[in-house]
Amino acid sequence: MSTELMKQKISVAQEFIDHHKKVSLNGHWRQQFHFMPEVGWMNDPNGIIDYKGKYHFFYQYNPFSPFWDSMYWGHAVSEDMIHWEYLPLALAPSEPYDNHQKGGCFSGSAIEKDGRLYLIYTGTYNDGDGFKQVQCVAYSEDGIHFEKYEGNPVLKAPEGYDEANFRDPCVWEHDGYYYMVCGATKNNLAKALLYKSRDLFHWDYVNVLAESYGDLGYMWECPDFFELDGKYILLISPMGVGNRTAIYLVGDFDYKTGKFTYNITGNSDSGFDFYAPKSFVDHRGRRMVVAWANEWDWMPRWKDWGPTYKEDWCGSFNLVREIRLNNDNTLSFLPIEEYCTLRTHESEQNALEITDKPYIILPEKQTCEIQAVIDLNATDARQVVFSLKGNDEYHLDVILDLEHQMIIMDRDHADGWSRGTAHTEIRKYDKAYLTVDIFIDRCSVEVFFEDYHTVMSSNVYASNDQVKNTVHSVGGKCTIRQLKTFQL
Ligand code: FRU
Repeated sequence: MSTELMKQKISVAQEFIDHHKKVSLNGHWRQQFHFMPEVGWMNDPNGIIDYKGKYHFFYQYNPFSPFWDSMYWGHAVSEDMIHWEYLPLALAPSEPYDNHQKGGCFSGSAIEKDGRLYLIYTGTYNDGDGFKQVQCVAYSEDGIHFEKYEGNPVLKAPEGYDEANFRDPCVWEHDGYYYMVCGATKNNLAKALLYKSRDLFHWDYVNVLAESYGDLGYMWECPDFFELDGKYILLISPMGVGNRTAIYLVGDFDYKTGKFTYNITGNSDSGFDFYAPKSFVDHRGRRMVVAWANEWDWMPRWKDWGPTYKEDWCGSFNLVREIRLNNDNTLSFLPIEEYCTLRTHESEQNALEITDKPYIILPEKQTCEIQAVIDLNATDARQVVFSLKGNDEYHLDVILDLEHQMIIMDRDHADGWSRGTAHTEIRKYDKAYLTVDIFIDRCSVEVFFEDYHTVMSSNVYASNDQVKNTVHSVGGKCTIRQLKTFQL
C-alpha cells in the first residue's frame, strides 16, 4: 500500500519532468561536465555508491520547480561520472513519517547488503507537534525501484535532543556490523551521533562520535565518516560557523569504544559553493567526494539562488574529487582522472614572464581547463591575478597574494548576480613553486591550488561573451614555469 502512493507520485513527477525538461536541457548556463538534474531543483548528493560496477548518484530533488520544496530523491547512473543516464526517481514523500509539505525525504546514504541496494534517509513530518526528523530505510532488488520498509521509522532522536535537527544518516559496514552517524543538536550544540546495527533495521545507540563545544556550530548537516590509509575522517557541513561551511576533521577511531579523537581540521573547500559533501569508495578503491555547488539562504554570504531558475533549474554538483591523505594528515582533493578524457586542443608554454599587462590565456571558451606552475624563485610580484570568465564588464578574480600568503577569490565583479570575496591561506609557501589548476564550466569555476591541498569553488553566471581568461602580476614580475590549457 505504502509503496503504491510512492509509485503514483513518482510517475506523476516523471511525466512532469518529461514535459518540462526542454528549456533546461537547452539552457545557456546548463553545466557541460558537472552533474545536474534534467530540470528542477537539486541540492545535496545522497547515497552516492558504486553498485554492481556503476556509479549511482542520488540527490535531493524537487522536480516541479527550480526552488527547494518537498524533497524527492533523484537518481542517475554512469560509468565514468561524466556521462549520465537519468533513472526513475528513487524516493517520494508518501508516508506519515516522511510527508512534510516543506520537507519530505531528506538526505542520507546508500549501502549494498546481500546484493540489495538500501537507502537510509531522513523522513520529515509534522503530526501537529512541530517539525520532526526520523531515520528511515528503503530497499531495492534491481537498484532502480525502491520500497519503503514497513517498520519505518527505524530511529528517532534520543531524549534531550532536538527532534527538528536529527538528520542525514551516513551508513557503512565494518566486520559484520553496520554503523550510522547522524547529525544532531542538543542544547544548541552540534553532535554527530553513532549507532550500530546487525541488519540496517534495528539500531543501537553507541555514543557521541564528535561534537561542537561552541566552536563548530549548533548543527552538523550531512556528517560523513570514513577511513583513509589508517586515519579516520569526519566531513561536516556545520551551521553557525560563519563562512566555513565544509570542514574536515582527521584523527583516530576505536570501534571498541566508539571514540573518535581528532587533531587536524581543515576546509574541504575554501570558496563559496561547496556544501554537504558525500564520500564514497569505488571498485578501484578510490575514496571520492561529491558536493552540492551552492549555498543555503542562512549562510552569511548568500545573496540569491542566481538566474538559472529562468531556465527551469537550480543546482549542480562540484567536480568529483578524489581524497588523498597527506604526510601531515591534512587532505588533498584531486579532480578525478576521468575529467582528463574531456581534454582537447592542448597547448603548453614554458618560462612565461607575466607583468602588469594582462596576458591572455587561450582558449577563449565557455568550458576549459588552465594549469599553471608558478616559479616562486623567479617571481618578485606581490600578487598574481587570474581574471576568469571575463568580458569588458565582468570577471572573477583569483588573487595569489604572495606578500600576505593568502589566496583570494573575488566575485564582486563576476556577473550581475554573485558577490563577495573568499579568503584562505597559502600553506606551502616554502616550496619553490605553486600550482594552480582551474576548471571552468558554463556557470562555475573551481580552482585547485598547491598540489590540490586547497580548493576554491564559485558559481559564475556568465553571459555568452564571458570567455576571456587572463593573468597579470602586481608590484613585480611573475614567472610561470609551465602553462597548459585545454578545451573541455
Ligand atoms: C543540507 C540539508 C540537509 C537536509 C537537506 C534538505 O543541505 O539541509 O541537512 O537533509 O539539505 O534538502
